[in-house]
Amino acid sequence: MHWPTLALVIGIAVVVIATVIALQQISTPPQTQAPTTSTQTTTPSTQTGPPTGTPPTSGIKYDPQLAEKGKQYFSDIGCTACHSIKSLGISGGAVGPDLSKALLGNPGAGGSVIGRFFKEKGLDNPAADPEKAAELLKEYLTNPPQYSTTMKTQVQAYKATYSNWATDQVPALVEMLKEAAAKASG
Ligand code: HEC
Repeated sequence: MHWPTLALVIGIAVVVIATVIALQQISTPPQTQAPTTSTQTTTPSTQTGPPTGTPPTSGIKYDPQLAEKGKQYFSDIGCTACHSIKSLGISGGAVGPDLSKALLGNPGAGGSVIGRFFKEKGLDNPAADPEKAAELLKEYLTNPPQYSTTMKTQVQAYKATYSNWATDQVPALVEMLKEAAAKASG
C-alpha cells in the first residue's frame, strides 16, 4: 500500500468515527429533554372569579326574631280578619289588601293607600330604599292618614288597647312586613 492511499484510508476512518460519535451525541439528548412529569404541576388556574359571598338578591334585610314576633301579633291582634300575607303563607280575610308587598308600596294593587302615603312622603321608589319604606310604614301604622279610613279607626282602637302600640307592636309588625316583601320579590 502506498502512503497516500494509507493516509486516505486513515482519514476516512477518522471521519467515520467522528461522525458516529457525533451522531451518538445528537441521538442521546432526547432522553433528557422529556421533563419529569412531576415538575409539570399546573398552577391552580381554576380559581373562578372572586369569592362569592353574595348578598341577598332582594336587598331587604330583616331581623327574623322580631319578624316572628310580628307574625304572632298579626294573628293575636286580628289583622288576619281583613288581611292575608301570601308570601309568608298567612291567609286571612279579603276586606283589606294582601300585605306581601306592602313595604314596596303594594305595586299592582291599583290605588294602594300605602303607595299614595309613600309618595306623599317623598318616597317614589320604595324598592330602592326599603329602610325608608319601613320607617314610613311605622308612621302609617301609628298614625294612618285621613283617606285610609278603615285603618284610621283600626289603629285608634289598637292604641286604646295596647299601651305601647308604637314601640312594641308596630316595630314587630313592620319587621314582619319586611320579611314578607323580601320573600315576595321575584
Ligand atoms: C277591619 C279590617 C281590617 C283590619 C282588622 C286591619 N286592616 Fe289593615 N287595611 C284594611 C283596609 C280596608 C285597608 C285599605 C286602606 C284603608 O281603607 O284604610 C287596609 C290597609 C292596610 C295597610 C296598607 C296596605 C295598602 O296596600 O295600602 C297596611 C300596611 C295594613 N292595613 C296593615 C294592617 C295591620 C298590621 C293590621 C293589624 C294590626 C291591620 N291592617 C288590620 C282593613 C283592615
